[in-house]
Amino acid sequence: MRRRAADFRRPVRRRVPDVLWWALFSVVVLLFIYVLSKGNQVESRPALSKVKISLLRNFRHDRIMEGLNITEEMLSAYSVARQLNDQISLAKAFVVIAKESSNLQFAWELSAQIRNSKILLSKAATRRAPLTTMESERAIHDMALLLYQAQQLHYDSATMIMRLKAKIQTLEEQSSSVSEKSSKYGQIAAEEVPKSLYCLGVRLTTEWFRNLKLQKKLKDKRKVEMKLKDNNLYHFCVFSDNIIATSVVVNSTAINSKNPHMVVFHLVTDEINYAAMRAWFAMNDFRGVTVEVQKFEDFSWLNASYVPVLKQLQDAKIQNYYFSGSNDDGKTPIKFRNPKYLSMLNHLRFYIPEVFPALKKVVFLDDDVVVQKDLSPLFSIDLNGHVNGAVETCMETFHRYHKYLNYSHPLIRTHFDPDACGWAFGMNVFDLVEWRKRNVTGIYHYWQEKNIDRTLWKLGTLPPGLLTFYGFTKPLDPLWHVLGFGYTTVDPQLVEKGAVLHFNGNAKPWLKIVIEKYKPIWEKYVDYSHALLQQCNFH
Ligand SMILES: *[C@@H]1O[C@H](CO)[C@@H](O)[C@H](O)[C@H]1NC(C)=O
Ligand SMILES: *[C@@H]1O[C@H](CO)[C@@H](O)[C@H](O)[C@H]1NC(C)=O
Ligand SMILES: *[C@@H]1O[C@H](CO)[C@@H](O)[C@H](O)[C@H]1NC(C)=O
Ligand SMILES: *[C@@H]1O[C@H](CO)[C@@H](O)[C@H](O)[C@H]1NC(C)=O
Ligand SMILES: *[C@@H]1O[C@H](CO)[C@@H](O)[C@H](O)[C@H]1NC(C)=O
Repeated sequence: MRRRAADFRRPVRRRVPDVLWWALFSVVVLLFIYVLSKGNQVESRPALSKVKISLLRNFRHDRIMEGLNITEEMLSAYSVARQLNDQISLAKAFVVIAKESSNLQFAWELSAQIRNSKILLSKAATRRAPLTTMESERAIHDMALLLYQAQQLHYDSATMIMRLKAKIQTLEEQSSSVSEKSSKYGQIAAEEVPKSLYCLGVRLTTEWFRNLKLQKKLKDKRKVEMKLKDNNLYHFCVFSDNIIATSVVVNSTAINSKNPHMVVFHLVTDEINYAAMRAWFAMNDFRGVTVEVQKFEDFSWLNASYVPVLKQLQDAKIQNYYFSGSNDDGKTPIKFRNPKYLSMLNHLRFYIPEVFPALKKVVFLDDDVVVQKDLSPLFSIDLNGHVNGAVETCMETFHRYHKYLNYSHPLIRTHFDPDACGWAFGMNVFDLVEWRKRNVTGIYHYWQEKNIDRTLWKLGTLPPGLLTFYGFTKPLDPLWHVLGFGYTTVDPQLVEKGAVLHFNGNAKPWLKIVIEKYKPIWEKYVDYSHALLQQCNFH
């Protein structure tokens, strides 16, 4: 049942980008035509004298009379037909905008003029001779007047782009509401903690308290203490409550590392999973990498007077919104209310300098990634004074700032370029020296507090991340971080060449709804013969 829900979701997902691509394509075409027509007007009007034009025209006219070549005619800068066509394209865009602005009279005038010009063009096509300046002069003049008027009405390119963008967003919302029902099921299936994971946690916790040798193993190493603060080593951090997922991140990094003894993992989990997490990393060795386990409840600075998210969690109204969610008649889709998005482990990524006060550079990894290359070169990338090295995502679809943020809000509109490229969390190089110097945590607090009424963005850590690291992010080679394994089909070349593969999306590799063909990528790093995994029915 669950599997079918997942299968049925995937094609729906794929259809959304299709719609977007077409929309993007039409915007590009419209803009192109607009720019062309502008350039054409500027170029042809003042530069050439009438005499010169008519000379040129006569010359061309003779040639064309030998046999009309429409392509050639249309490509010429002085073509009347082309001028008419460009005007028509532009006018069509203005008709849409005029209609949306409820200026129906103007829309009608434009439409009438478009028809006029089209009749001229088709006349020329049927008689197989090019239009002359004389017969088209009036049409071009009248249309130019209307277009000029349109610009006077501030139907300029900026407005046009904004409107078209709004159109695209509506389109997107429509298609996502179609798939909402199926994604709801997907979410429920994804949220269910599998029994095996729960079993593993319980057994490991029991083991931890029963087996003093395990406890000693993690504790009594002075050398380990030194390594945790040594800035010549490669420091990674993972914030997670999922033992098996974290194990795969550590194991895959270790296996593919050229110098595992230089790799240090800093894990932070919660109270519930603390003993189990420590037990697992004490009883398994990962090619000698150093592993530290902390729990966020131990951080005294992480309190409601300092951290807005914690303050907001204490707010009864917000609790109601996230945890019961019945006060808006279910109008807000389930995923916008998921308490996961307010979980402290998720927001810990904004406090990395506070969590690791001694460190200068850290690579942040999500717990749903698999590493398949040596990651040490990440530490010698020059971030040029930026705080965050990340892979940009606007190439694949529409992942620009306007997709994540509310551009109707003046605070967003005045501070952020709507076309700025989005980037991804999951594999980020953080320069903690720059972070502290530029008070980036303070910037995060500022935006988190402004969003108390959730009007800037709705959920998640990416939107506040985009605001916080705006202007502080350096794009990395996309091969460092390949996304999409949890919901879509990934280019096979990237599957092979990617350094960090990310199962973002609902189809996590430890769930039944995982995309089958990607499951082996993750399972390769799970030791199914481990006694505890066998007892807990992992397979
Ligand atoms: C028309 O002109 C184009 C470009 O100059 C040329 O490639 C094409 O072959 C011509 N077509 C005809 C039918 O002459
Ligand atoms: C809360 O955090 C702030 C800033 O990190 C710290 O100065 C303060 O002592 C903390 N309060 C408590 C009660 O621990
Ligand atoms: C960092 O920013 C916060 C909030 O904007 C501010 O209260 C704090 O004083 C700043 N800290 C430093 C060291 O500038
Ligand atoms: C976006 O911001 C505007 C202006 O503050 C607000 O009226 C509107 O409700 C916000 N939209 C959403 C979806 O929160
Ligand atoms: C780590 O991965 C290796 C190779 O893929 C596997 O053989 C090993 O059992 C894994 N170790 C653990 C503790 O999961």
